[in-house]
Amino acid sequence: MGKVQLDDHSNKDKKTEFSLVRLKSTWTRKVGKKISKGPDDCVSAAKIYESITECGTSWTVVSPIVFTYKVTETQGLLDPGNNTLLMGHITDPQQLENKELMNKPIKRFVVVDQEVYRIYNSKIIKYFEANHVLYKILALPTTEENKSMEMALKILEEVNKFSIDRRTEPIIAIGGGVCLDIVGLAASLYRRRTPYIRVPTTLLSYIDASVGAKTGVNFDNCKNKVGAYIPPTAAFLDLSFIQTVPRRHISNGLAEMLKMALMKHRELFEILEKHGQLLLDTKFQSDNSVFGNNNSHAASRSTRIAITTMLEELAPNLWEDDLNRLVDFGHLISPALEMKVLPSLLHGEAVNIDMSYMVYVSRESGLLTEDDKQQIIRCMVGLELPVWHPACTMELIQTALQDRLKHSGGLVRMPLPVGLGQADIFNNTSYEILHRAYEKWCDELSVPSDSDEP
Ligand SMILES: NC(=O)c1ccc[n+]([C@@H]2O[C@H](COP(=O)([O-])OP(=O)(O)OC[C@H]3O[C@@H](n4cnc5c(N)ncnc54)[C@H](O)[C@@H]3O)[C@@H](O)[C@H]2O)c1
Ligand SMILES: [Zn+2]
Repeated sequence: MGKVQLDDHSNKDKKTEFSLVRLKSTWTRKVGKKISKGPDDCVSAAKIYESITECGTSWTVVSPIVFTYKVTETQGLLDPGNNTLLMGHITDPQQLENKELMNKPIKRFVVVDQEVYRIYNSKIIKYFEANHVLYKILALPTTEENKSMEMALKILEEVNKFSIDRRTEPIIAIGGGVCLDIVGLAASLYRRRTPYIRVPTTLLSYIDASVGAKTGVNFDNCKNKVGAYIPPTAAFLDLSFIQTVPRRHISNGLAEMLKMALMKHRELFEILEKHGQLLLDTKFQSDNSVFGNNNSHAASRSTRIAITTMLEELAPNLWEDDLNRLVDFGHLISPALEMKVLPSLLHGEAVNIDMSYMVYVSRESGLLTEDDKQQIIRCMVGLELPVWHPACTMELIQTALQDRLKHSGGLVRMPLPVGLGQADIFNNTSYEILHRAYEKWCDELSVPSDSDEP
């Protein structure tokens, strides 16, 4: 009955599209797509659609929001003469020319991972002192177990005490992915959205967490359950931080790099295959090993490809509205696995176990040859990544996929490799294939636990 009435009304609906024009300080609606404007008028990209029905008026606002953020490689980020950390985020030349703003003392609130602070505190302090910055440094134990709303609130309390100008004084986060994610969330909540800067200090955060728009904390025992899609105003990348990262954490970052290689970049796969050990040994510091035709270093070439391919996938889908995402490879089962065994598996390790299983799914689906499968698993082992885990049971796989089903419009969209450096997204993988792949995966890769040994 209600539906019929609505249909009847819709015939009589009067719909009007309005553009918005600002003259002096006042915004006014103007009818139509193409509107003539005077030299001083400003036309917004936003629209208001008004529809008048018998029940009343309804307004639909379409307001495109543009995010601009920079991801910048730099060297010597903490050298006192390098002003990237303080000024590198400014894209508006008018701001740089604004004398009043530029002569104001620089004020920065800085959150640093406690371990990073232990290693780099004198450099960090020297940097801000030398540049006459009014600063507050908050060093926090930003571990995966502490990745919580409580820690975000702690940051907010301190930011509030220090007091910053939300337009011109971005919060700086220096640390691994955990630190960058928590600070990003706190910043996106403070005064509804305060700009923040990411300085990644682990390989994983260098090529992944600092490139995209996501912030978050764990909640109700679920990974990153509470968060926001608010990109940093800038991410400043300095590879020299990686030299102090423990070897296991370098492997951890290599897993996310391998994800991009398997999904879309054969050259990156080949670099990881041939130079993975060297990258682990040199911790991505200048290695002088010449390869390929262009004399690039393995470290700079691999990080650059990883970042570019990641940006290609993220920029058109910043808010992840499109559920068909290659970057989800390795991220269907791993969140549940990671939370189940916390803290024994690192994020990238759990991702790699997920990817390793999915390679078997791909093989069982007839998408990958046996040789390709073996080559990928050998590469993973070469990168010192786990390829199997006893806690990754068929039950966990099923539960994780079912959970995914609930949140992705009734279809599990499964990115799967279809060759080396090529992939596609599938949504019709049968339980039989998942099960067969699981059995093979366990047969070929499972490691007996101590208690199983004679
Ligand atoms: N926002 C995103 O898009 C995104 C993407 C990928 C991962 N993540 C998140 O990132 C987190 C994992 O990040 P991570 O692997 O960097 O972990 P992490 O932040 O826990 O850092 C790993 C360890 O390295 C230490 N550390 C950091 N920098 C160091 C340095 N230069 N020298 C010595 N030690 C150093 C830290 O104290 C920590 O113990 C996960 O929580 C994951 O959800 C977010
Ligand atoms: Zn990840």
